[in-house]
Amino acid sequence: MQHPCIFMPPSVQFTAKKMVMSTWVDHMPFAYDLVATLQPSKIVELGTHNGLSFFTFCQALQENNVDGLAYAVDTWQGDEHTGAYGEEVFEMVRDHCREHYRGNSYLLRMTFDEAADHFADQSIDLLHIDGLHTYDAVSHDFQTWLPKVRPGGVVLFHDIEARMEDFGVWRFWQDIKPQYQSYEFRFGFGLGVVIVPGASRPAGTLFDLMFDGDEMGRHELQKFYVTVGHYHELQRKLSRARR
Ligand SMILES: C[S@@+](CC[C@H](N)C(=O)[O-])C[C@H]1O[C@@H](n2cnc3c(N)ncnc32)[C@H](O)[C@@H]1O
Repeated sequence: MQHPCIFMPPSVQFTAKKMVMSTWVDHMPFAYDLVATLQPSKIVELGTHNGLSFFTFCQALQENNVDGLAYAVDTWQGDEHTGAYGEEVFEMVRDHCREHYRGNSYLLRMTFDEAADHFADQSIDLLHIDGLHTYDAVSHDFQTWLPKVRPGGVVLFHDIEARMEDFGVWRFWQDIKPQYQSYEFRFGFGLGVVIVPGASRPAGTLFDLMFDGDEMGRHELQKFYVTVGHYHELQRKLSRARR
């Protein structure tokens, strides 16, 4: 069993091209490494808002020379939890993608249900579910989109630790995590990782660290990503202070 510090994944060198306010910030290093390891041909994100997670996926594709496409699905109108927001949010995401990820990023401005018809069954390698966070909404999104993910593909759920208001991803996660090969990052607002059954687990040290080995090893991986996240935050503060 490798220790994550020996593994030294590419996120250690990662500097986000654009930072925007989001509770997703804690999971950027893992998302970056996941893309570098999985080498997905097709990423779909359900719920993009001001783009932090999506930009991370796109930057990881680009900087790790992954020949993949990333699709962001959102009405860019907001939902009951984000609240309504203005047109400038969509424009900012569109402009950043045009400037940096033209050709491998696509914004689908529609509902998740409408977008589902645009993807063939078993065609997605990495699906990120981050829409409305009620139990019923996340359950609906998962049931609708699971057939679209290829066997051995990966589904991410954000907010598995968020317990405010009527957030219900945490309850949905309790229901499904025993049914799949799964891993959970419990820091920040929490990120759940599920491997879609029907093919062997994706290869790579990151997946070995997540799914092989003992409780101690999995705990070390959490600590590792907490530390990388803090390190990046300090670097950002330092560069702001220098400017
Ligand atoms: C929590 S935010 C996404 C956060 C983002 N992933 C980040 O990195 O910060 C949820 C977004 O999902 C969108 N949304 C929620 N339900 C939707 C649906 N059924 N169809 C399309 N967009 C939806 C909202 O407009 C909102 O922008």
